Amino acid sequence: MIDLSSLVIKPLDSELDLGAFSCGHKLLDKFLKDKAATEHAAYKVRVFVACAPGDKCPLGYYALTVTTLVGSEVSEAAASKFPKFNVPAIYLALIGVNKDHQSKGIGRLLMEDVLDRSLSIAENAGIWAVALDAVSEEVAEIYEGYGFERFVEGERKMYMALQTVRDAKVAAAQEA
Ligand SMILES: CC(C)(COP(=O)(O)OP(=O)(O)OC[C@H]1O[C@@H](n2cnc3c(N)ncnc32)[C@H](O)[C@@H]1OP(=O)(O)O)[C@@H](O)C(=O)NCCC(=O)NCCS
Repeated sequence: MIDLSSLVIKPLDSELDLGAFSCGHKLLDKFLKDKAATEHAAYKVRVFVACAPGDKCPLGYYALTVTTLVGSEVSEAAASKFPKFNVPAIYLALIGVNKDHQSKGIGRLLMEDVLDRSLSIAENAGIWAVALDAVSEEVAEIYEGYGFERFVEGERKMYMALQTVRDAKVAAAQEA
């Protein structure tokens, strides 16, 4: 049983053993083994890993970059907020959890970290949402469970407006 509260989410570093990681998706595994370190160091993406204390093999990871979206393709709210310019967003390029530890809440924990990190970036540069492309319908349904919405019903381009995250945090603080 994994104690989620003990997991450490941190930037990729050279001490980690990435060779044993497998989330069951070839491209995601290959990226972590072969490309993550160089792309992270080159600031092409930034890679973050979740590790159990003292463990060198990550239980999960994600990679972030930035993108712009066409507001009218995302939602009415995005189009009205950005009538003239494209919508600035954080792009969740990759996310994976070790297959022996899937469905234990690590994906949700990583996603909360993505949202917190995006909120923090948005305090310094305009960012409206986090966007991603779900790799499959099954994964899109998991992301809907996290609160992501589809640009268009039936498609797998998805987003979460950061104001929704801020509002949820305010509501949770008021309930506590
Ligand atoms: C997608 C992935 C990152 C999710 O991580 P995870 O740790 O397995 O997910 P979680 O344990 O946080 O579970 C997420 C939620 O989705 C639910 N869920 C699981 N499978 C589901 C499905 N098929 N449909 C709907 N919901 C589902 C779980 O019950 C859980 O809900 P809960 O927290 O309310 O109980 C992980 O499964 C993975 O690495 N998959 C292989 C690689 C991949 O496809 N990556 C995505 C690239 S876009």
